[in-house]
Amino acid sequence: MKYFLLFACGLTVLAQQPPAPAKPVVRRPSAFPERPPADPAKVDRGKAIYGVNCTFCHGADARGGSGGTNLIRASIVMSDRDGELIHTVLKEGREGMPKFNFTAEQASDIAAFIHSFKVGGYDISRMTPPSIVTGDAKQGEAYFQKTCAKCHSVTGDLKAIGSRIDDAKLLQQTWLMPGTGGARAASLGLKIPPVTVDITTADGKKLGGRLERVDDFLVSWFDSKNVRHTLTRDGDNPKVVINEPLAPHKALLSTYRDEDIHNLTAYLVTVK
Ligand code: HEC
Ligand code: HEC
Repeated sequence: MKYFLLFACGLTVLAQQPPAPAKPVVRRPSAFPERPPADPAKVDRGKAIYGVNCTFCHGADARGGSGGTNLIRASIVMSDRDGELIHTVLKEGREGMPKFNFTAEQASDIAAFIHSFKVGGYDISRMTPPSIVTGDAKQGEAYFQKTCAKCHSVTGDLKAIGSRIDDAKLLQQTWLMPGTGGARAASLGLKIPPVTVDITTADGKKLGGRLERVDDFLVSWFDSKNVRHTLTRDGDNPKVVINEPLAPHKALLSTYRDEDIHNLTAYLVTVK
């Protein structure tokens, strides 16, 4: 509001005294309030965590990457003060985003890093996005053999994956986190197995099926006839075992280096 007034006054002054030496107070009103700068050490810690866990989906500058949204202008991020709202998103995960087990302090460091970007600013490099196929396919192949081949094969389940997903960005998003990538990824017909739950009641009865939701007090699931069931939980009664088919992918997420990601994508686009 203050800036608007200054701006308006500046204009009026200019209009009334055009020949006067121009030193108008033309301070553009910022669309978004700026935050006071955070402790640089804290921002650095946040940057390190962010770089490993978030960059490939939300971009190095948090303005969106392969799949993830622009965080800078997300209302949750804008309302977040010290990581408290971001922490909730991390704990709960989102459609297309895995859950992360960070402490409140780590979430606060990540938040400090994300908040260090100007909301109204933009990164000039964003205007000409470089191709994401910048890696070395040969090294990518070696990496695939070492890391992925125990579960996948480019002559078996991932046969012709580079033609089936002929958009490199979507391909990268798909191998990084299968099942994410939105409607276009869904239209590829990849079959991502659901999360299931095995339940053993106190009297030894075995139940379970496709998990609907689980927390400390309740577990609910759909059985093989798609009928929904719910049980209350009391510690280890009933016994609940969750099977997350994509758990290995989630665990891998934090092990990739940027070059691994680039090399592997460069390799997979050649798998025609
Ligand atoms: C595999 C990709 C992926 C990774 C990794 C990922 N995100 Fe996300 N994230 C998403 C997607 C997709 C959404 C949007 C989901 C939706 O529309 O509800 C999202 C949403 C969010 C939101 C909410 C934004 C909003 O509009 O409400 C926040 C905050 C966020 N992510 C932070 C992070 C942080 C911090 C990390 C790293 C610790 C991270 N994400 C890692 C994909 C990812
Ligand atoms: C421990 C096993 C495991 C490892 C290691 C693994 N994945 Fe997966 N991956 C899965 C499972 C399970 C799915 C879900 C779909 C399925 O069952 O094929 C999947 C799905 C995928 C998909 C989606 C394709 C489709 O047809 O559904 C791609 C692409 C993929 N993984 C690539 C990779 C790459 C690249 C690596 C190495 C960086 C890797 N995976 C490592 C188990 C694994």
